[in-house]
Amino acid sequence: MLNVDICSTSNGRTELLITSYRCSGRIAQAAYIEGLHANCNPWQGSQSERRNFDILMSYFNIHFAITALVSIAFWRFLVRRKSKRLLSNISGPPSPSWFKGNYQQVFNPDAWGFHEFLAEKYGSMSRLHGPYGTNTLYTFDPKAMQSVLVKDQDVFEEEDGFIKGNLLIFGEGLLGTLGHQHRKQRKMLNPVFSAAHMREMIPVFFEVTHKLESALKNRLQAGPSTQEVEILSWMGRTALELIGQAGLGYSFDPLTDEESAHPYSQVIKELFPTLIRLQFWQFNVLPYVSWIGTAGFRRRIVKMLPWKDLHHVQDMIDYMYGVSEEIYKMKINALNAGDEAVALQIGRGNDLISVLMKENMKASKEDRLRDVEVIDQSGMARILHLLSQHPEAQQKLRQELIEAKHLKDGHDFSYEDLTTLPYLDAVCRETLRLYTPVTTVTRRARRDAIIPLLRPIIGMDGTEVHEVAAPNDTTVVVSIFNSNRNPDLWGEDAGEWKPERWLSPLPKALLEARIPGVYSHLMTFLGGGRSCIGFKFSQLEMKVVISTLVEKFQFSPSSNDSEIFWQMNGVTAPVIGKDNHPQLPIRISLVN
Ligand code: HEM
Repeated sequence: MLNVDICSTSNGRTELLITSYRCSGRIAQAAYIEGLHANCNPWQGSQSERRNFDILMSYFNIHFAITALVSIAFWRFLVRRKSKRLLSNISGPPSPSWFKGNYQQVFNPDAWGFHEFLAEKYGSMSRLHGPYGTNTLYTFDPKAMQSVLVKDQDVFEEEDGFIKGNLLIFGEGLLGTLGHQHRKQRKMLNPVFSAAHMREMIPVFFEVTHKLESALKNRLQAGPSTQEVEILSWMGRTALELIGQAGLGYSFDPLTDEESAHPYSQVIKELFPTLIRLQFWQFNVLPYVSWIGTAGFRRRIVKMLPWKDLHHVQDMIDYMYGVSEEIYKMKINALNAGDEAVALQIGRGNDLISVLMKENMKASKEDRLRDVEVIDQSGMARILHLLSQHPEAQQKLRQELIEAKHLKDGHDFSYEDLTTLPYLDAVCRETLRLYTPVTTVTRRARRDAIIPLLRPIIGMDGTEVHEVAAPNDTTVVVSIFNSNRNPDLWGEDAGEWKPERWLSPLPKALLEARIPGVYSHLMTFLGGGRSCIGFKFSQLEMKVVISTLVEKFQFSPSSNDSEIFWQMNGVTAPVIGKDNHPQLPIRISLVN
């Protein structure tokens, strides 16, 4: 039995105090929350009474936790029954396990084949088995994606595990918030990602990319003239320096040689491949345990668990947090010191975070721009890998760049040049279509909803299904991968890398389908209120880096090329054979 008192704290807040607690005939009195209530209800008992009270409070916590778990289990049982009934007409693969359902088949580094199988066998809407006997929908139907990501985006929110995981990893940035708070943050950040602001950043982009060019040139000039280079690291370092200078006004890396790499780029390279191994637990266990105890208590528990990947992620988060603290303090100090100090900073105060701060908008240290360099490094490295395997496309692109550069008397391209070079644009689009770095996103219905379909599917009972009733709590996996290579929309050659497809009119079926993506009939950067805010930044970065490198260097496959395998992590990453550490060797030499 609990007795509760109301008490006012010195800062005017009202708190509920447990003043006595009866358990197994024993009574503890006058509980108070240490420190907070020193002025209103101090502990007056002896130390041993205090100890007893602490023990009783632990019982109370356990009672509370058990009651909560039983209630959640019962509620989930009811939801599951309803979901089973409503979704029973949607076909899908059998479940290999009650505990994990099809989860591990959909989310693992080698899941490409399973995603292809789902599309071929069940079409653009299917039912999967989720963990603990739950149901999940898997879709790439254009109208269904429009409904889930755009029209009913308030119903289909990010999964709790995604938000909780991002909160722990990246803090309260865009990826860690929901609803009103997310919309507010997004509105605040939109102007700094506008085309006008991107245009101003072009000189910074070229400055950084020329450093990369010099480093590779110096290496080749020192001999031998053709060398195998781990290009993923160089792309990661360049992407980090670009987001550092243009996004945060901070220089991480002088990009001179292998030794000068900042440890942050290594951390970020390892983060996503490690996270995919924890994803099941992040999405299906973390939401239920993240509220237990204090942050310090949870840290101690994590330390005690014999779990290498979890410890690795914890260390990486700590490191990233330390670096972001350092950058944030530096920015605050420069702003407080006035305009001169700001002008002396990297990016001269034109970086995204300084612009936010100067405009008196609340930009917290949590508004880090995701660890986006990892997505960009994947995109840029993939383009170079494909060009190395397609020498004719590489030569065609180089020719376009050399001719355009000639017309500019060798000066760097402008924003307009970069947006209008047709083959460069076609290579970027085609790579982002066929090899999307982010392959799926998941959402969870926060209330019952109807998901309409553009193309009806055949239900288990043989009838045509035009819409799906998704009960509250249904998880929906949106397949970016299958939408971007849907042969019904892109044609029979949808699975081939053909930049030329972008140089002629796109198929009528694709245009009529109205793909809800923000970019070029693709879902690569998603659509709706949670689409990628940095997609223009990413386009520009890609074009600056690829145009500079392809003009000056020749790329060919490494001797290990046949062993290179792109893992389907949260963000795709190349590895060699069974080695889990991302890397992409490629042969390079100077043009001419
Ligand atoms: C090839 C490169 C990139 C790809 C494919 C990509 C893709 C995506 C996708 C699919 C999402 C939605 C994630 C979800 O809802 O689960 C997203 C969100 C986001 N992206 Fe990107 N991104 C890229 C580069 C960038 C860059 C360069 C930036 C910043 C400079 C950026 C900033 C963000 C942010 C802040 C979000 C969260 C948006 C929100 O929740 O409102 N991304 N991105």
